[in-house]
Amino acid sequence: MTDQAPRPESDIPGKPTSASRTTLSHIMTASETNLLGTVHGGVIMKLVDDVAGAVAGRHSGGPAVTASMDEMVFLEPVRVGDLVHVRAQCNWTGRSSMEIGVRVLAERWNESTPPTQVGSAYLVFAAVDADGKPRTVPPVIPETDRDKRRYQEAQIRRTHRLARRRAIKELRERRAAEGYED
Ligand SMILES: CC(C)(COP(=O)(O)OP(=O)(O)OC[C@H]1O[C@@H](n2cnc3c(N)ncnc32)[C@H](O)[C@@H]1OP(=O)(O)O)[C@@H](O)C(=O)NCCC(=O)NCCS
Repeated sequence: MTDQAPRPESDIPGKPTSASRTTLSHIMTASETNLLGTVHGGVIMKLVDDVAGAVAGRHSGGPAVTASMDEMVFLEPVRVGDLVHVRAQCNWTGRSSMEIGVRVLAERWNESTPPTQVGSAYLVFAAVDADGKPRTVPPVIPETDRDKRRYQEAQIRRTHRLARRRAIKELRERRAAEGYED
């Protein structure tokens, strides 16, 4: 069961999605290729983490750390000379965590052709205080129908992440109780 609308988990005033939406653009160079001559996936993941971190920092108004990255999908290879745009927004907020959705688009740097989507990812960031402890974030206020759909989908992913973590923890505890060492 997912929420149909944002449910504030704090007294902090909400912030609209558009307030922290961010795009990072970068022209790919030969130093960023893998052995096949296309851009290394890790280079794209770094850009994804960078832009998601900017969104999380802007939304939460302070430092935020990557708690997890999931569903990183590479749809098409990225080539040297591609102008890559990495677009991110805050899809959902909990008490101290935020799901950031990222789309990766590529176009030839010197051609005016429409960009192609080459990847996407979802990251969870936790806002932290000066001691690295989680702190409360403003609830995100989805504005458009698309933002609202993304909020609802993020809630489904959150439910699955929690259920998976709980199931694995319970399995490990059961195995430890049965005497398994690992
Ligand atoms: C992320 C971190 C702050 C969580 O701290 P914690 O003491 O476990 O605190 P909590 O359990 O209260 O988790 C805080 C929030 O993060 C969420 N969270 C924690 N681990 C998570 C994970 N693996 N996946 C998704 N969400 C996660 C929790 O659900 C919680 O969300 P909520 O407050 O909105 O309900 C802590 O594990 C940490 O500092 N990790 C290292 C982060 C880092 O350095 N990243 C860069 C890697 S180089």
